[in-house]
Amino acid sequence: MSWIDQRPDDAMDGAFTAVGPENVPTIEPAAFREAMSRLGAAVHVITTAGPGGKAGATATAVCSVSDAPPTLLMCFNRRSQTNPAVVENGVFCVNTLGDGGAEIADIFAGRTGVLGTDRFATGEWTTLSTGSPVLVTAVVAFDCRIVEVRSVGTHNVFFGAVEAVRLGQGGPALVYHDRAYKRV
Ligand SMILES: Cc1cc2nc3c(=O)[nH]c(=O)nc-3n(C[C@H](O)[C@H](O)[C@H](O)COP(=O)(O)O)c2cc1C
Repeated sequence: MSWIDQRPDDAMDGAFTAVGPENVPTIEPAAFREAMSRLGAAVHVITTAGPGGKAGATATAVCSVSDAPPTLLMCFNRRSQTNPAVVENGVFCVNTLGDGGAEIADIFAGRTGVLGTDRFATGEWTTLSTGSPVLVTAVVAFDCRIVEVRSVGTHNVFFGAVEAVRLGQGGPALVYHDRAYKRV
């Protein structure tokens, strides 16, 4: 099997290209998760809206890719209910949470049992360019159009061109570190 390979089962999830590591030695997943728990990361609610429906989920897997053109990436588990909506809509918004965002982070992580569009009952929402929900209280919101999707392991990696940005009020950010929310 080649290093880069098309997998038919991924096509259903909207992933276009599957990338290893499938045939290389790695540490155990539990050891990887334990190691990653030491790595503090900003907490975001990633939203989408369009023909595939309105949806959103909490994620820390967000990273800047390039400023020319402005591009970021985010990773969703393909089992997430938000994943197919993002794939079909072709757009998403990264809403970076401030220090008061723990409650909304838990709601969009499914920890309170709230599902689907009911999650948007909490918080004040607006839109920018793509129509994806923008959290008014977010520290910053990146409104993105998908330019590429890669399937890696259990996740889809979405590359988004940043169409619009909303700078919210400054102040402390919410960070997930050592399996707990922290304010920095
Ligand atoms: C702090 C935190 C960070 C998370 N980061 C991610 C992430 O980067 N990618 C991901 O797929 N899930 C992540 N999750 C898990 C999703 O939020 C969770 O699976 C959620 O229930 C998905 O909802 P959905 O199935 O309705 O889309 C994170 C959860 C928490 C609490």
